[in-house]
Amino acid sequence: MAQHAHIVGTGSSMPERILFNKDLEEIVDTNDEWIVRRSGIRERRISSKVREESTTDLATQASARALEMAGVSPGELDMIVVGTVTPDRQFPSTGCMVQEALKAEKAAAFDVSAGCSGFLYALTMVNNAIRCGTCGTALVVGVERLSSIINWDDRGTCVLLADGAGAAVVRSVPEEGGILSSHLRSDGTLWELLYSADGSSRTPAILHDINIRPFHLRMDGNPLFRRAIGCMSEIAREALGHNSLSGEDISLVVPHQANIRIIQGLANNLRIPMEKVYTNIERYGNTSSATIPIALDEANRKGLLKKGDHVLLVTFGAGLTWGASILEWSM
Ligand code: UT7
Repeated sequence: MAQHAHIVGTGSSMPERILFNKDLEEIVDTNDEWIVRRSGIRERRISSKVREESTTDLATQASARALEMAGVSPGELDMIVVGTVTPDRQFPSTGCMVQEALKAEKAAAFDVSAGCSGFLYALTMVNNAIRCGTCGTALVVGVERLSSIINWDDRGTCVLLADGAGAAVVRSVPEEGGILSSHLRSDGTLWELLYSADGSSRTPAILHDINIRPFHLRMDGNPLFRRAIGCMSEIAREALGHNSLSGEDISLVVPHQANIRIIQGLANNLRIPMEKVYTNIERYGNTSSATIPIALDEANRKGLLKKGDHVLLVTFGAGLTWGASILEWSM
């Protein structure tokens, strides 16, 4: 019998500390008015070194909340897939660290590196595994501690990026619905628009130029901004067309939260009113692969998603990578 992948629980976890735009005025030459007008961000969460807010901690807390909502015990998980570009360490994977923390003994665990698209890529891996019959119950996580790779002297990026985690429990179910389709794209020729400058096997520590500070994120914001709207609109249209749906059939869009103007441009292109687009960028900034699962969890817990609703997830990020997925909500 054909199996379908349904989201049966969501969870999220944000660091306690709030960094306001005013606080950033003390660090770089910026101001609240510019940040709000150009990005839509008013505040963001930054993890602490002393509290339990590492990538693994945030991912584990978000996962535990998603499992609790789903009524699934960690021992039932067959697979844990984590989208992240800021793991606690290069290896082993954050997936394995989360597996240990949850005591999910029988799960296969690994990470997916797809920039801000990490959660959607991970969700797609799980959807495919469920449809193939190789996985019954899975945990999909998007988590970042971008504060660890931000260049705090670069006003073009440090005002945008932040930390957080979101998760979803996905189950194999015979009933139709759940994840209807996923559509992924990449363009590696444009990797230099957004990348981590160091901290890899390409530049062994012994050879470091002392002027290059390791792991710093570099972004060419304006060309990325222009491509983001086009790529997200195109892939969203592909997902809609594949399912014979139009913008009017979508109850809620849960987009990657990189910039409110990107989200507005996407909504405008799809002719979907902003009232049907979930945004929380104002409070959390851009948490890369975590933005979509955090937003999905908030929308779910606020009761904005009803059984049978069509939900459009759409993302764009480093790689470049982008993608869209349509869900028929079944909780
Ligand atoms: O997560 C997925 C990947 N990320 C994205 O898709 C992000 C895409 N990019 C963006 O969101 C926008 O490009 C930014 C928010 C990063 C920048 O907005 P923009 O409208 O593209 O501005 P800009 O880069 O063209 O810069 C305009 C001006 C520049 O000054 P000059 O050269 O015109 O004098 C910047 O130096 O704004 C200046 N600027 C700032 N001013 C105050 C840049 N950052 C800041 C800042 N505060 N924080």
